[in-house]
Amino acid sequence: MHTLKRIETFVWTALLGGSLLLPSLVMADDWESLPPGPIRDRIELMEKVGDDAKTINDALKAGNPADAAAPADNIAALMPKFDELFPEGSTGEDSRAKKNIWASWDEFQAFSTYLKDAATDVAKAARDGGDVKSASRKMFKSCKSCHKKFRLPKEDEE
Ligand code: HEC
Repeated sequence: MHTLKRIETFVWTALLGGSLLLPSLVMADDWESLPPGPIRDRIELMEKVGDDAKTINDALKAGNPADAAAPADNIAALMPKFDELFPEGSTGEDSRAKKNIWASWDEFQAFSTYLKDAATDVAKAARDGGDVKSASRKMFKSCKSCHKKFRLPKEDEE
């Protein structure tokens, strides 16, 4: 079960001002049955990031950009922890992490830091009455960029 693609599609649709199709059925996620360890922990963390991203999107959609502050703060706080959940070579059939993460570690970390900073900007814009929509667009682009480079695709998408 994979929710990100839908969240991304959902977000882009919202930001582009199109009509929205929220999946009506949300099933329990696979990670809950994974054995304890860094793979499970980082997928759980990413699922939280995904939930916060959805909350930001919902706030924009509802015309309440100030409500994006708290979930954006959450994302900014989570990302530094994400980096710590990648012991060398920790991937396999339970994980969609690509092996190139460890060969390109500095770049991987740069993507993570970029998201942290972008989420901080979203929170700031939300608090100061700034342009939350464009800050969010920038933030959501970073999800896509990192996934494209460092996360394996799934057969049921693309
Ligand atoms: C620094 C790189 C990076 C960034 C930035 C990033 N992700 Fe991820 N994300 C990953 C990796 C790698 C995985 C796969 C982890 C695994 O399976 O071990 C993942 C997995 C996920 C998952 C878990 C389900 C799945 O598809 O495996 C969700 C949900 C998710 N990301 C959402 C987001 C959202 C939303 C953003 C932006 C707000 C984001 N991510 C930004 C690297 C990133």
